Amino acid sequence: MAWGGLIDRYGSRMNIAGKDRPVTLFEGNTPLVPAPKLAEWIGGDIDLYLKYDGMNPTGSFKDRGMTTAITHARAEGAEIVICASTGNTSAAAAAYASRAGMKCVVLIPDGKIAYGKLAGTLAYGAQVVAIRGSFDDGLRLVQEISAVTPIALVNSVNPARLEGQKTAAWEVCEQLGAIPDWLALPVGNAGNISAYWMGFSECWRSECAQLCKKPRVKRPQLLGTQAAGAAPLVDGHPVDHPETKCTAIRIGRPARGDQALQAIKESNGIITKCSDDEIFAAYREVARREGVFCEPSSAAGLAGFKQQIAAGTGPQPGQTVVAVLTGHGLKDPDSAVAEAVAPVTLDADLDTLRRYLLA
Ligand code: F0G
Repeated sequence: MAWGGLIDRYGSRMNIAGKDRPVTLFEGNTPLVPAPKLAEWIGGDIDLYLKYDGMNPTGSFKDRGMTTAITHARAEGAEIVICASTGNTSAAAAAYASRAGMKCVVLIPDGKIAYGKLAGTLAYGAQVVAIRGSFDDGLRLVQEISAVTPIALVNSVNPARLEGQKTAAWEVCEQLGAIPDWLALPVGNAGNISAYWMGFSECWRSECAQLCKKPRVKRPQLLGTQAAGAAPLVDGHPVDHPETKCTAIRIGRPARGDQALQAIKESNGIITKCSDDEIFAAYREVARREGVFCEPSSAAGLAGFKQQIAAGTGPQPGQTVVAVLTGHGLKDPDSAVAEAVAPVTLDADLDTLRRYLLA
């Protein structure tokens, strides 16, 4: 049967309005890719899988939460939606809003979002406001404006977002045919890790034989990774001036920080931070070894696995582990080109090419 999107597939388990009239781009059902060569690089004799959520329609996991947030907002009568974003939320909000015939306003930190994200957000027709400030400033502003106007807020402080994003946990279990031992992902505003934990917990608590072969047995341990220059949950306090090359997770006051820490505690998991160098190393390796291209921030979970395994505190040999790759590599072409070997330029001539290749 053709894939009908997340509300079609999992709607009976979603607490939102408007499920009879979904706004969908047929998001979800993204690949779970075995990654044995990357596992060798990470070490620790793990059975590694990549949940390639950059394969969603606008190129990031945000589509999972935006099908539900926009469907719900439209059913509640909203005509305008607003969000703050480091780029992926804005692209997803803009796409789903245009599909719903709604207006979309986005606040982005001026000069601090990757080019592919800006391109998408503009192409889908959003009204883009670049603010002189951080994502955190933007989030404060959109919360304030949506409190005093009929504009619907679609950041992940909106519970309808998590109703969609939790489906990724169920897909992982279905695709694996089991519940993984560990699940690692990057943490920014902390909505996604909270949503995964909701998904695994609902699966764990309820009858879900159709989702997992071993229902009620266990939930995975969660490994959340922040960038070292933007690690409020690891450092234990808000970061006023977050700084990292991983612009997607350049966030100093995560709105769902407490919920994320609770999830990590309940899962017997770990919240950690990695340097930009560690995250970018994982970003290069996953593309070169496995042919899977993600954006830099998306590799934070892989860097976290490598760090924790080296310390002896992460997954144990033989365990099944999943790293969530949250956004597509094409979102950030500048980083990809900067990290790669530059192309050579040759005359269009057979001898020249032969000499070059045989040199
Ligand atoms: N990975 C990517 C590619 C992201 O874009 C984000 C968040 C995260 C991970 C972190 O997820 O915030 O739920 O902890 N991006 C938001 C945005 C902030 O505006 O696109 P989180």
